[in-house]
Amino acid sequence: MKIFWFALCSFFITESLAKGSIYDGFKIYELIAKGRSSDFVLSELIKNESYYEIFSSNGANAHVMVHPEAQSEFIELLDDHTLTHKIVNRDVGLTLRREFETNRNLRNWFPYEGRLGTERYYTHEEINQYIEDLAKQFPSRVVVKTVGKSFEGRWLKTIRITNGDGRSNKNVILMDGGFHAREWISPAAVLYAIGELVNNYEAHAQLLLDYDWVILPVVNADGYAYTHLSADTRMWRKTRRPSNDTCIGTDPNRNFDFHWNETGASPDPCSETYAGSKAFSEQEAIVVRDLIHSFADRGKMYLTVHSYGNYILYPWGYIDALPDTWPDLDEVGRAGGDAIKAATGTDYRVGCSTTLLYPAAGASDDYAFNAGFPISFTMELPAGGANYFDPPASDIDRLVKETWVGIEAMARRVTQKYPLN
Ligand code: ARG
Ligand code: ZN
Repeated sequence: MKIFWFALCSFFITESLAKGSIYDGFKIYELIAKGRSSDFVLSELIKNESYYEIFSSNGANAHVMVHPEAQSEFIELLDDHTLTHKIVNRDVGLTLRREFETNRNLRNWFPYEGRLGTERYYTHEEINQYIEDLAKQFPSRVVVKTVGKSFEGRWLKTIRITNGDGRSNKNVILMDGGFHAREWISPAAVLYAIGELVNNYEAHAQLLLDYDWVILPVVNADGYAYTHLSADTRMWRKTRRPSNDTCIGTDPNRNFDFHWNETGASPDPCSETYAGSKAFSEQEAIVVRDLIHSFADRGKMYLTVHSYGNYILYPWGYIDALPDTWPDLDEVGRAGGDAIKAATGTDYRVGCSTTLLYPAAGASDDYAFNAGFPISFTMELPAGGANYFDPPASDIDRLVKETWVGIEAMARRVTQKYPLN
């Protein structure tokens, strides 16, 4: 995280004694899009990752976090291109510190006691404990398997959920969360889906009749753990393996060996979208790769949950083109988007990830689709909180329930479209 190191240096120089955080003085702006000029401005900002981090850049209303030393330069650039803006967070550091305190208190108030609620965010350790506990509680329907280890040695575990009828070789839905460390609502939503499928399985009989679900709740376990440490680390995105002497982490969602590093990824180890020194340089990406291959013959839907932006995205993500079977992807994706719209009124945009969002090669969705999953989505959940990646704990319940409505509708459509053969 380039902007992070830059922040860290200025922090030690100017504020080492003050009780601040490295994000003090950072602001987040929303750019009010006006066609081409915003594209140009964004392309300029991307060149200077030490000063600017673009959170969401679908053209319309991009959010940009700006380093304290770049404020006036940034405003000038916008003025030069007659781009309107609005400040959406005047003090990133302050909001992160407050949220950190709140989350710490919530952890104390709601200790893990064998079940997961939606009152707070859970740590990677608690999440592993929870799925192990579910397996003990429901041995006929839940199997937990250790599928690998993170760079720092955290166990990566999948939970397989069945209806317990003992039939093997069913079709498979493969789902994961927590690719990007700071997107906390992602593991939360995946955990809620797990809870529904396990505890409420009679209501979801159709989803489990000819299908098994295999779920990895937190892919980037090290990054996720890091974001729980402090306000200063809350906005971490990448893995935690050092890339060179100064910068840490690879974007695990640019690390897959499918058109790796071709577009929308960076060769710079300090970039937020660093593709890695080579494809599959990250063991966390290898774990997902191996899961994808082990289910490629019976896998019908791969769903990777991210935030934010309200999107259901399908291939291709490395090129501005649609696969031949795009109507199938579109049909299933729309089933999800429509169900959410009907349930809560929330709008999701459904479509090709390159055209709707931006090109990003080497991502897991393209990889899974290419490996044989006929349906493959990246779901971008809604933003929340002062910094978009940080919905307050009080919003978890609403967001994960809404997400489940979409997942359930897509899964239902998949089970109808791809019966067991
Ligand atoms: N926000 C996600 C990311 O940056 C989007 C990935 C969409 N998929 C793709 N193949 N481009 O990783
Ligand atoms: Zn993400």
